[in-house]
Amino acid sequence: MAPAAAEMAQAVGPVGSHTIAKGAGGAAFFDVVFGFPQYQTLITARNSTANGGNAIGDPKQQQQQAEGGGEELVAVGYAAPCVWGGASLEDLPPTWDHVLATARTMLHDPANAPKPTAMSALAVEVSPQHQGGGLSQAVLRHMKAVAKGLRAKGLIAPIRPILKPQYPLVAMEDYITWHVPDPRDPAGPPVVFDPWLRTHIRLGARILKVAKCSALVAAPVADWEAWTRMRFLSSGPYTVPGGLNVVQVDLSTDTAVYAEDNVWVAHVLD
Ligand SMILES: CC(C)(COP(=O)(O)OP(=O)(O)OC[C@H]1O[C@@H](n2cnc3c(N)ncnc32)[C@H](O)[C@@H]1OP(=O)(O)O)[C@@H](O)C(=O)NCCC(=O)NCCS
Repeated sequence: MAPAAAEMAQAVGPVGSHTIAKGAGGAAFFDVVFGFPQYQTLITARNSTANGGNAIGDPKQQQQQAEGGGEELVAVGYAAPCVWGGASLEDLPPTWDHVLATARTMLHDPANAPKPTAMSALAVEVSPQHQGGGLSQAVLRHMKAVAKGLRAKGLIAPIRPILKPQYPLVAMEDYITWHVPDPRDPAGPPVVFDPWLRTHIRLGARILKVAKCSALVAAPVADWEAWTRMRFLSSGPYTVPGGLNVVQVDLSTDTAVYAEDNVWVAHVLD
């Protein structure tokens, strides 16, 4: 059983009025897959109002907050060791799924695992009421510092652009070329349209390429109906809430397939 975030987290420094910590995250899935504490970043805040209800993570921890106040988990970042030479596009891991599967092998079957050479971010999440305050940048900066400390050849990330769900019919290859006036400096040069992509770019990342079919979820139609609270009564493509791509439904085989494209970015470790 994975320990709760609060038990594993180790404070490593302040971020404004928050505390940055490293340790196993609250999402059990990632705890089980990894168990490499240095690859997880947690940012906590004093929770003096003791409402605690919006913390990401372990329900037990949320309950403790609700009862007694204390630390509230406000942001979390997940990363994993991966294999990348640091220079070419060709040897990038093919997909988000592949990074996860390789990291799992490194953890559970190291004798048969490749040697890690780089670090890949997998997810960054900021609790809704703390979004827009720059916390994700603190998470990414911490990931970069960890990667540098481990002498990784780079911090890469197969990212999910945050506004892409509003444009599921647009090819990712086109979406990443969209530029708009910089909301922070309208007189300056245009910036990439997607706020999450430009957050990485502002921190020194460059876009490498689209990761095609990076996260694949193939499941019976009934499962997708339950997850989306929609009905799929004929075969074909469907847009679904939160989906970066469409879901392809095939009633003849009772399968619905979601193949999400991500965007590989690489951060310089200065
Ligand atoms: C994407 C996310 C991690 C950004 O974290 P954050 O700490 O709020 O980001 P910042 O405060 O540094 O803001 C970065 C940019 O994103 C924008 N932004 C932040 N939250 C946003 C939201 N919910 N919707 C649209 N834009 C958002 C900010 O306005 C800023 O844009 P700017 O370049 O115009 O200034 C956060 O919104 C989140 O957790 N979203 C849900 C999970 C997710 O999509 N994660 C990313 C894929 S792994």
